[in-house]
Amino acid sequence: MTGERWWQGAVLYQVYVRSFSDSNGDGFGDLPGLTARLPYLDWLGIDGIWLSPTMPSPDRDWGYDVSDYLGVHQDFGTLADLDALIGEAARLGIKVLLDLVPNHTSSAHPWFVDAASDPASAHRDYYVWAAPRASGGPPNNWVDFTGSPAWAFDTASGQYYLHNYLPEQPDLNWWEPAVHREFREIIEFWFGRGVAGFRIDVAHGLYKDAKLRDDPPNPDPGPLTGRHAVRHVYSANRQETHEVYREWRSIAERYSPPRLLLGETWTGDFDALASYYGDDDELHLGFNIPFIFAAFSAPGLSDVVRSTLASLPAGACPVWTASNHDAGRFPARWCRDDPRLTRLALTLLMTLPGTTVLYYGDEIGMTDVAVPAALRRDPMSLDLPPDQNRDRCRTPMQWDTSAHGGFSPALAVPWLPPGDFAGCNVAGQREDPGSVLSYCRELIELRKDRIGADLGYTVLPAPEGVWCYAAGSVLVAANFGDHRADLRGFASGTVLLSSQGKAGGDLLSLAPGEAVVASRA
Ligand code: GLC
Repeated sequence: MTGERWWQGAVLYQVYVRSFSDSNGDGFGDLPGLTARLPYLDWLGIDGIWLSPTMPSPDRDWGYDVSDYLGVHQDFGTLADLDALIGEAARLGIKVLLDLVPNHTSSAHPWFVDAASDPASAHRDYYVWAAPRASGGPPNNWVDFTGSPAWAFDTASGQYYLHNYLPEQPDLNWWEPAVHREFREIIEFWFGRGVAGFRIDVAHGLYKDAKLRDDPPNPDPGPLTGRHAVRHVYSANRQETHEVYREWRSIAERYSPPRLLLGETWTGDFDALASYYGDDDELHLGFNIPFIFAAFSAPGLSDVVRSTLASLPAGACPVWTASNHDAGRFPARWCRDDPRLTRLALTLLMTLPGTTVLYYGDEIGMTDVAVPAALRRDPMSLDLPPDQNRDRCRTPMQWDTSAHGGFSPALAVPWLPPGDFAGCNVAGQREDPGSVLSYCRELIELRKDRIGADLGYTVLPAPEGVWCYAAGSVLVAANFGDHRADLRGFASGTVLLSSQGKAGGDLLSLAPGEAVVASRA
């Protein structure tokens, strides 16, 4: 994909580097391993890859606690390995995005080490420090990711510092101009090395209320407690954050082609999501969290799509993704591990207009893995129930039927146990024209031919349980119900692709769980 807005219509692919391909047998995926797999991603038709954090880190949060923004994690290789990856990817026409973590650093970052060493240190104001309340205890009622107070006490200075995630992940203070300067330099460093853009971690989080006012209680926390006990009015989604993105956008646009800013815009509010696109002068793309958590039904998904498109500014490019390293894999969450439904979901992901982001393994229908408690590795979700433990969706890529599913050499011990690679792997599915992988590849090809950068979307009348829409030059119909759905009188066209393998005829009816892409009559 070339052109100014190369991401519009593209299929991006999230690589959780630690779990993709282990070239040196230490049990961790690495950059040379990934580079060796690029021809596969090229064959699949992927336009760009987003690498989960690649920077040095003590790994309290597996790379989301960065201790050096200009380096490469020793488990993954060297800067030269990253350059080689970018070069090889460019040769294949694949763009490489990195993960940027600007909301917090690791407590092992030299900035924080200096900041914590002395209240008068040069880096003190890089972080958010505050005195205890007059009555004692944390400065306000803000809670971290786990629902505990978001403040850690520093005995040496008698002050607290803010951490929205683990105490080992102190939040940066974006009211401090030097923090802006540091990140401008970091961004330009990577753009200059040929990085095509960033996925921006906790993009909604950077600024916090200068007065540190209490968050109001949440009248409707739903079944979730902890972090959801308050509404994050003062601790996230602050107005000032937009200024940061306007600044970064102007940097991104100085490059040719422009570098992409894709935010982890974690909000359930479509207007808040839309606000991060600004007046086409902030983020190019924002992840759509409500879509990931939508009910897997015709009204559940189509309502989210309608609300998204109604809120986004004209010309803004929506993002569709269904799995990631936090939320789990869609074949488990949406499809109850029914392969028919996995194929239906892939049909939707590949035909909705905008940018689609696959998570590694989505293309073969890889599902969550029940990681035994003794083998869990994610400190932040260690105590959460198994269906929320994040290790379940970070297990090794399933390449073939050899030892460890081909992820690591035979004698290695992968950092997390692989799932059912005998039943679900790339090699077997590549040879099978009826596999999920073959179907996914056909869908990607069809997306390029028939939808491309066209952002048009029209919902069409359909029988109950069926979602039908027009996009690009195709019509898509998906039957979520348990019964055959008769489409006569609703939609017509010639079937180009069916999730259940019967292309070629007129679009008349859909089997239970079937999705089709048809030419528009
Ligand atoms: C984002 C990441 C998640 C991480 C958190 C803190 O939500 O996706 O994995 O734990 O930020 O950096």
